[in-house]
Amino acid sequence: MEVYSERQRISNAVEVLKERQLTVGLVPTMGALHEGHLALVRRALDDNDIVVVSVFVNPTQFDNQDDLEKYPRTLKHDVALLEEVDRERILVYAPSVEDIYEGNTISQKFDFDGLEYEMEGKFRSGHFDGVGTIVKRFFEIIKPHKAYFGEKDFQQLQIIKKLVEKNNIPVAIIGCEIYRETNGLAMSSRNVRLKPEYKEVAPFIYKTLLAAKDKFGIESASEVVKWVESQFSKQDLLRLEYFIIADTNTLKPVEEKTNKKSYRAFIAVYADDIRLIDNIALN
Ligand code: PAJ
Repeated sequence: MEVYSERQRISNAVEVLKERQLTVGLVPTMGALHEGHLALVRRALDDNDIVVVSVFVNPTQFDNQDDLEKYPRTLKHDVALLEEVDRERILVYAPSVEDIYEGNTISQKFDFDGLEYEMEGKFRSGHFDGVGTIVKRFFEIIKPHKAYFGEKDFQQLQIIKKLVEKNNIPVAIIGCEIYRETNGLAMSSRNVRLKPEYKEVAPFIYKTLLAAKDKFGIESASEVVKWVESQFSKQDLLRLEYFIIADTNTLKPVEEKTNKKSYRAFIAVYADDIRLIDNIALN
C-alpha cells in the first residue's frame, strides 16, 4: 500500500487515477484507527474505485496543547489495519505539519452560519476554524468525488456540509452512522486511554442517551435535560460538561418541541481527564 507524505505526490497520483475515470473517495482521520474509522473506509470502498485515507493529527483544531501532545500516533499500525481492509484500492496520505501547512499553522476564519458557536464551539475555542482549514486543504489536494464523515462528530459533519456549500467545493459529503463497542460506548481514539474503572462506567453515557430518547417522546425537552443532569450528578467518575437537545439542522437548543422538526441530543462528558462525546437522533 502506498503511503504518501508529500501533498504534490498524492495530488499527482490521484489526478492520474481520475483521468482514468476512476472514482475517488476521501476519509479524513487523525489516525489511531479503530473500527469506527474502518467502517467509514469500508463504506467509501463500496461507493468508489479508490479511497484516500488521510492520517494527520491537526494541530490547529486543538485548543489544549496537552491533548495535542497526548493524542495517540500509531501510523504503522494504522497502515497495517488498512492493508487488512484492502491493499489494492486504498492510498494513505500522512503528511507532516510542514507539508500540509507550508510553515503557516494558522487557521483560516470561517462563517458557518452560527453552527460553529453551538456545543463544541462553546467549549473548544477555534476548534472548527481548525477543522475547516484542514479539511478544505484536503479537498484542494485530493479533489475527491465523495468524502466521508462520522455522525459521532455530528456538529463537525454539519459544518463540513456548510463549508462545501459556502465555498462551492465540488464534493459530495456522506455522513456515516456511529460505530459502537458492544457495550454501547461510541468508539473513539481516546478510549484506549481510559483507565479500567472509567472504561467500566463509560457505557453509562449511551445508556443515558437511550433513556433520554424514550423520555423525549413523553416529556418536555427541559424535563429531559434536568433528568440527564440529575443522573450524572449521581455518578462519581463521570463529569457532565453539557447535555443539549437541539434542532438537527441548525444545532440550536430546542425551545418549543414541534412534530415538524428533527431533534438530536448531544453530550460531552469527562471520564478522568478524557473528554468523550456522543449523540443520538430523538425523532
Ligand atoms: P477523527 O477523530 O480521527 O475521526 C475521523 C472520522 O472518523 C470523523 O469523520 C469521525 O466522525 C469518524 N469517527 C470517529 N469515531 C467514529 C465512530 N465511532 N463511528 C463513526 N464514525 C467515527 O474527526 C476528525 O478525526 C478530525 O476532526 C478530521 C475530520 C480528520 C480533521 O482533522
